[in-house]
Amino acid sequence: MSRRLASTIAIAALAALLAPTPATGGDAEAGKTPFASFCSSCHGMGGKGDGPVGAALQPPPRDFTQGDFKFDTDDDGKAGTDVDLKNVITNGAGAYGGSMLMAPWGAMLSPEDVENIIAYIRSLKP
Ligand code: HEC
Repeated sequence: MSRRLASTIAIAALAALLAPTPATGGDAEAGKTPFASFCSSCHGMGGKGDGPVGAALQPPPRDFTQGDFKFDTDDDGKAGTDVDLKNVITNGAGAYGGSMLMAPWGAMLSPEDVENIIAYIRSLKP
């Protein structure tokens, strides 16, 4: 490897370390519309789990304003990472021992929609 290439890589690696890591690559504003269409009936537009359908459910839909998540889908010891939310939304909570009412949305949403929805969910926690 040339010295120049090596130093370019070193600088890139340093820049990556110093750059603030965004919670997700998604766009919260773009996530609003699919969230309104597919999720708000249960989760409520403000994410409190108080949508018209959600209010009656047991267990209740998660309250996103608390930012407190249950499923650790990749067993890394942390629930509610971006990977976990992506897995729950794509595969349903039932796939991880949770409520079947939190259905798998992978067939309805593009991976980009899912990223944007995750960004929207994150934005609901004050
Ligand atoms: C029919 C009602 C319903 C709809 C519609 C729904 N959810 Fe849920 N959701 C739930 C319920 C109930 C839970 C709690 C599951 C549990 O604790 O077992 C939940 C939990 C979650 C969680 C929490 C996961 C965790 O680890 O705590 C996320 C994230 C989530 N839903 C995202 C979504 C998204 C995004 C959509 C729309 C694409 C959606 N939900 C649509 C009912 C719903």
